[in-house]
Parts: sequence; C-alpha cells; structure tokens
Amino acid sequence: MSERPYTMLSCSVSLDGYLGDRTPRLALSNAADFERVDEVRASCDAIMVGAATVRTDNPRLLVRSQARRDERTARGLPSSPKKITVSERVDLDEHSNFFTAGEAEKLIYTSTGRVKDARRRLGPVATIVDAGRRVRMRRLCEDLADRGVGRLMVEGGGIVHTQFLSDDLVDELQLVVAPFFVGDSNAPRFVSDGRFPWNAGRRATLADVRQIGDVVLLRYALSPRFQGT
Ligand SMILES: NC(=O)c1ccc[n+]([C@@H]2O[C@H](COP(=O)([O-])OP(=O)(O)OC[C@H]3O[C@@H](n4cnc5c(N)ncnc54)[C@H](OP(=O)(O)O)[C@@H]3O)[C@@H](O)[C@H]2O)c1
Repeated sequence: MSERPYTMLSCSVSLDGYLGDRTPRLALSNAADFERVDEVRASCDAIMVGAATVRTDNPRLLVRSQARRDERTARGLPSSPKKITVSERVDLDEHSNFFTAGEAEKLIYTSTGRVKDARRRLGPVATIVDAGRRVRMRRLCEDLADRGVGRLMVEGGGIVHTQFLSDDLVDELQLVVAPFFVGDSNAPRFVSDGRFPWNAGRRATLADVRQIGDVVLLRYALSPRFQGT
C-alpha cells in the first residue's frame, strides 16, 4: 500500500457552523474565495464529495479557470482532477454533473454487496471500486494513493468530513467562515458527532488566518505533513 495522499479538507460554514440551509448550493463564500478554491483544486489530483452532496448540489467539480486548466494540461495532467464519491445506496443520477462534466476519471467507492448493482447502473460513466464489507476512509485513501493520487481535496459534506477528521486522515483544514447565520438545526453541519483527535486537551494548530472580503479563511495544520506556504 502507498502512503495516503496529502489531504486538504476545504469547506465554508455559516457563523453557526452549518454547511448550507437545505437548499442546493447556498453561497456561503464570495467570488474571491471561489477563485482561491479554484487554485487549490488545480493543485490536486482528486476531489472528493459525499453522495448527498452530488445529489443536492449537483456540483461540476472542475477547475474553472482556463489558464489553470491549460497549465495542468501542459504538465501532462487532465484539465481537472479525478472526481471521487462514496455511496452505500449508489442512488446517483448518471446525468448529474459529477458524471457528465469534464474528462477526468470518476470513481465511486461502495461496499462489496452493492458493487454488482452499481456497475450495472453506473459502470458506463464511472469506475466502481469495491471497498470491502464497509467503506472505510483510511482504506479508500490508500486505494487512491495506489491509483496515483498524491494530493486529495475533500469538499464535503458533513458526513464525509466527520469520517476523515475522526479517522485522522486530514493534513490541512481550510475553513471559511461566512458572515451570516443559517439558524436551522436540521441543516447539514460542518461535522456530526464523533471522536475527533483534537479536543480541549489536544488543540489543533492554527497555521494561518486570512480575511478575504467579507469571509475569513482559517487554515489549520492537522498533521506533521502540513505544507504551509
Ligand atoms: N458549505 C460547503 O462548503 C459545502 C460543501 C459540500 C457540501 N455542502 C452541503 O452539505 C450537504 C450534504 O452533506 P451531508 O453531510 O448531508 O452528506 P455528504 O457527506 O455529502 O454525503 C453523505 C452520503 O455519502 C455516502 N457515504 C458517506 N460515508 C459513507 C461510507 N463510509 N460508506 C458508504 N457511503 C458513505 C452516503 O451516501 P448514500 O446515501 O448514497 O449511501 C451518505 O448518505 C449538502 O446540503 C451540501 O449543500 C456544503
């Protein structure tokens, strides 16, 4: 097994810690920050989101800037990173942007029992990866490394965040805080309940704070592998 990819978890949250408001794609961030995120995306080999995010937000998960796409192509890379999702139900629309936008490979990790059905329905548009009896993020990361992924960007949602953080698989957290409240406890949260490696007795390292217009970017170094710039 290869060493797991350098992993960045990137998301934006409201002042009360929500990822959205139950409507698709609530804009928590601003244009300048979307531009920053695009640059980070362009530096990665793969972008991962949970199946609920694929269903709710219908994200394209592409590098938007033509200059950055050209720069990747000149380096012999696909213009955008691979797209990764994880699903148990594999109830995903083959016409969603996750599958139809961009040329890069799309991978779905699911449990052994779901593979046959997933390949029948989505085999033509994605690589279905048998992740064993239950999908575990550590094993998923090792498999991605075996597939040549050196840098991974995890972009939501909260269920996926919770597993990556509680399994100590994140090297860098990029948390953007938007200047408003959602105020709905049924909305998706940044993370759900879990046993996280960082607590009152073991505080995370705040590596950088940057104001970007009306939002703030907090960068946390969560492992000794943190690549601060
Ligand atoms: N603000 C931001 O930066 C941001 C970013 C991304 C998303 N969001 C928001 O976040 C919300 C979605 O977040 P969420 O927490 O509800 O869901 P999520 O993390 O996007 O996806 C959860 C789903 O992923 C699959 N999954 C996760 N772990 C799995 C495992 N170990 N094995 C098998 N399948 C697994 C399951 O899919 P199945 O149900 O298919 O089995 C599960 O229901 C959306 O409202 C979206 O708008 C916000």
